[in-house]
Amino acid sequence: MFARRIAVIGTGYVGLTTGACLASLGHHVVCADIDPDKIDRLNDGQIDILEPGLPELVAENVAAGRLEFVLGARQAIVRPEEPAVEVVFLCVPTPMGEGGAADLAAVQAVANEVRHLLPKGCVVVNKSTVPVGTAEATRKMLGRRDVSVVSNPEFLREGSAVHDFLHPDRIVVGSDAQDAAERVAALYSKLGAPTQLTDAASAEMVKYAANCFLAMKLSYVNALADLCERLGADVIEVTEGMGYDRRIGQTFLSPGPGWGGSCFPKDTHALLQIAAAAGMDFELVGASLRTNETTRERVVDKVRTAVGGSLAGQRIGLLGLTFKAGTDDLRDSPSLAVAQLLRAEGAELVGYDPACPHDVPGVTDGITVVDDALDAAKDAAALVVLTEWPQFRTLDWTALGGVVGAPVVIDTRNLLDPDVLRRAGFAWIGLGRS
Ligand code: UGA
Repeated sequence: MFARRIAVIGTGYVGLTTGACLASLGHHVVCADIDPDKIDRLNDGQIDILEPGLPELVAENVAAGRLEFVLGARQAIVRPEEPAVEVVFLCVPTPMGEGGAADLAAVQAVANEVRHLLPKGCVVVNKSTVPVGTAEATRKMLGRRDVSVVSNPEFLREGSAVHDFLHPDRIVVGSDAQDAAERVAALYSKLGAPTQLTDAASAEMVKYAANCFLAMKLSYVNALADLCERLGADVIEVTEGMGYDRRIGQTFLSPGPGWGGSCFPKDTHALLQIAAAAGMDFELVGASLRTNETTRERVVDKVRTAVGGSLAGQRIGLLGLTFKAGTDDLRDSPSLAVAQLLRAEGAELVGYDPACPHDVPGVTDGITVVDDALDAAKDAAALVVLTEWPQFRTLDWTALGGVVGAPVVIDTRNLLDPDVLRRAGFAWIGLGRS
């Protein structure tokens, strides 16, 4: 029998996507969260996160009776009227804790809560990004010889999580119990994706290794953009030429205002910490983090130069606040990091983002968030494109030119068509371009 009984603990971005997608593969999934309001909203069909396809997938699978939302892990696991739950996914947050290490309090709390509730033979799966050794630690926390623990990291990108789940490049399942790993891998068999069965520590490491490699790739590209500018080369041409090499690939080569989001900063810090605890200075990862800081500072240098040498009292219009396009997530957004630096030099900031039309207290402080690009442009000494929202390309640049204080755009994503901008009367300044 293919369809399994699954509990998913945590209905954040990873848990909700995992639950809905596993249900769409035919499994019976019960998702639990400790937040009663969130469960109420989910039961009302309201999805808090902006994730294409997710609301439809949730609705479809709830209607088909394959997906439910309940309050608390107990209700997802102890279901006397139903066959016993076979697999329990832990999808709880592992934020950056002290010294950059991952904070495992939520994993620990769930393990404590469920340890006496799990049926014999059940498999507990760690989906959250957790330090190497957490599967083993979870096994100890559970203290159950008749329950196995498996690491099955997720590789979902925000904004295309449903697509990534259903069309994965690979599925990695790690456990020191071969049989449990095979049972978890079988949950995904319909997807026909390359599947790697490995040990738990290696599976846990794969996630950090991949995210930190990608962050390093971006820092490299951002540093390259700086050098291209100094030498009169064009980073777009350079990365295209690099990308034809199949060992490098064409993707993840776009320079920007630095990388961010809820994963890369947290995971790079955590890997540094994991390495330090193992007696190693992972210099490449440290350098990638430092380069990320420099990249933001370089954006500020460009804006300062563009407005004549001092940002004090200058009104700057920011286009894009989220950490990348296609999401409403502001966590660790490079746009906000650049905004903070501009503000520290006395700039007056007005920001517009298609997915974040209002102030978010404690996050967008110091930026007047407006719900129209024209309002962001009004009287601005410069406009700065920070997030690569495609709709910025088709803004009415002539109208924007009519309201700005000075027609200059610093395009930190090389997103806009310089000719369109020039025709609208703007000076266009890209990144890494001659
Ligand atoms: C990242 C990974 O790509 C996923 O594989 C992983 O599962 C996820 O973290 C996670 O650990 O859960 P995500 O944080 O959604 O996904 O964001 P990315 O699309 O990877 O972008 C990260 C940052 O890099 C953004 O700030 C983005 O703007 C920047 N970026 C990306 C660039 O500056 N240039 C690029 O060419 C690509």
